Amino acid sequence: MALKLVSGQKAHYSFHRSTSPSADHLLLVHGAGGNHQHWGAAVRRLADANTYALDLPGHGRSAGAGRRSVSEYATFVVQFMDAMGIERGVVAGHSMGGAIALSAALDKPGRVAGLVLVGTGARLRVLPTILEGTLTDWPATAQLVCQYAYSSKAPAALVQLGQRQMLAVPGETVHDDFAACNDFDVTNRLGEIRCPTLVLCGTEDNLTPPKYSAFLAEQIHGARLRLIEKAGHMVMIEKEREVAEAISEWLRQCLS
Ligand code: COA
Repeated sequence: MALKLVSGQKAHYSFHRSTSPSADHLLLVHGAGGNHQHWGAAVRRLADANTYALDLPGHGRSAGAGRRSVSEYATFVVQFMDAMGIERGVVAGHSMGGAIALSAALDKPGRVAGLVLVGTGARLRVLPTILEGTLTDWPATAQLVCQYAYSSKAPAALVQLGQRQMLAVPGETVHDDFAACNDFDVTNRLGEIRCPTLVLCGTEDNLTPPKYSAFLAEQIHGARLRLIEKAGHMVMIEKEREVAEAISEWLRQCLS
């Protein structure tokens, strides 16, 4: 893990340099209650991009408090780019991270060269049981979220690891993340997005069903949709190789 001061606070990220000198910068942004390891190692180590997998503030090893809105997290991502000297980059986001990526593309279009939207949507309403449970019974709610988040084929050890990692984040922080998701709605703004976009979703995603991804791909000009079989909401760790290949192929075809 590497460390950068972003607005005076420690931000942790993993970095993998591409073998190509002309490679794009790719920023990986995790979802509610997540950390950079939610992106499988194959995705964090793409040969075709200089890849930065971030821990958002208040998550993983990054300092500071979590944010209360998607747009505040998008501001953090742009501040991270400033701190790293990245003028333009591809922003890939999972779930809440996808909302953050969309928000960055809408508010700072000059900074976002492309979007990879994984298990996400233009609107992310959250089940009240989950939203309230983060405050009333965080351990039971983390277990419930993880039950929904993985496909029926996911190894039990992977689900248990996901649960342990989620419980490492305070319930209050995850509550604020889910509240930020619940308030997020850019359904009427997708036509403004002009950058190349790849939309990815597991066919067994129960939290952000493939219908949400189909909507994104229909509404975003020129977007490409890729559904991954036998994967749930955590597609980029359940099927990390397929996701890595899909992103690499798209980078080569749509961004070079
Ligand atoms: N893209 C496309 N369609 C969407 C959408 C999106 N991002 N978000 C909602 N819709 C659709 C729904 O499928 C629904 O369509 P329908 O009427 O044909 O069934 C309609 O818009 C209204 O849905 P929604 O705004 O979600 O309100 P709701 O009161 O019907 O349902 C929940 C609220 C919370 C029960 C529901 O959103 C849900 O089950 N969410 C998934 C679980 C969750 O908590 N996910 C966490 C995401 S971070």
